[in-house]
Amino acid sequence: MIFFNPETPSHCLSLSLDKLVAYQTFFPVVDQLERAGIKCVQSISQQKFNLAIISIPNSKKLARHLIYLATKAVPEGLIIVDGDKSYGIESMIRDLKKRTKITNFISKAHGKTAWFETPADLEMYKDIPLKVEDGFKTRAGVFSSDGVDPASKLLAQLLPRDLTGVGADLGAGWGYLSVKVLETNSISELHFIEADFTAINLAKNNLNDQRVKFYWCDALTWKAPKLLDFIIMNPPFHHLGRAIPTLGIDFIKVASRNLKKSGTLWMVANRHLPYEDAIKRHFSSFSELSGSKKFKVIRAENPINF
Ligand SMILES: C[S@@+](CC[C@H](N)C(=O)[O-])C[C@H]1O[C@@H](n2cnc3c(N)ncnc32)[C@H](O)[C@@H]1O
Repeated sequence: MIFFNPETPSHCLSLSLDKLVAYQTFFPVVDQLERAGIKCVQSISQQKFNLAIISIPNSKKLARHLIYLATKAVPEGLIIVDGDKSYGIESMIRDLKKRTKITNFISKAHGKTAWFETPADLEMYKDIPLKVEDGFKTRAGVFSSDGVDPASKLLAQLLPRDLTGVGADLGAGWGYLSVKVLETNSISELHFIEADFTAINLAKNNLNDQRVKFYWCDALTWKAPKLLDFIIMNPPFHHLGRAIPTLGIDFIKVASRNLKKSGTLWMVANRHLPYEDAIKRHFSSFSELSGSKKFKVIRAENPINF
């Protein structure tokens, strides 16, 4: 059996773990699942199954793509689509009904589950890369999948043109900020840190630069091989569809412990996010560069490494 997008090991506990393969692309979740003994994959191989469960994500396009992948992984068998009403499960099931015969469904509290049999032709659900401005490619479900994020664009405009040495882009997405910072020739190396497997694969194509080292990992546990000259970031404040402002604070800590004493952090954030106290705790000085009503761009210097 293959389970698409389990968010925690507890989602899998009622299943027979030795027969289970989980399709999951977000590194911190993969790490948790694998520690619990669950085999994870990030692509559909030749291996076929007779049952798939899909826990739908909140991106409708990605939910459709996972259902399409399930029909490929289970050419003859049963597909169960499960999800929360707040993630759009009801409209997903309505759409599925137009395209294939739904065997049955049940509703419970905030959730709904429907199932159908394969073969089923759901080619129209297949996601294909989207070309956005400047020729960058994105895909369903990655951060800012419809185009360049306005906060990242603002940070890119305010980055100095004389950045030098070795740096990192923390939570680097499909690569926009890294491409922009690498327009500076005096940068010798850039560590590209991203947890989303789909985003990092897009970035490998969006960024064609020998100076980049890619890490599919959890930024919160990443350690630079040598302390860095600079870090750029537009830190996440959502995890699996839920707002978690402490994530940005954790990214600030990671930045401070990976920078040289003379190193600098350049970050952008939504103006309402309360990051200043954390920056004061982890850096001796900081200033806000001209931001906008919606976003603030911060330069922080002299990291305090605990
Ligand atoms: C606000 S987005 C910024 C993306 C990119 N820098 C840009 O400007 O378009 C934050 C990124 O952090 C990634 N992310 C979230 N949690 C992470 C973690 N623990 N480790 C590494 N990356 C993470 C997300 O997948 C997302 O791509």
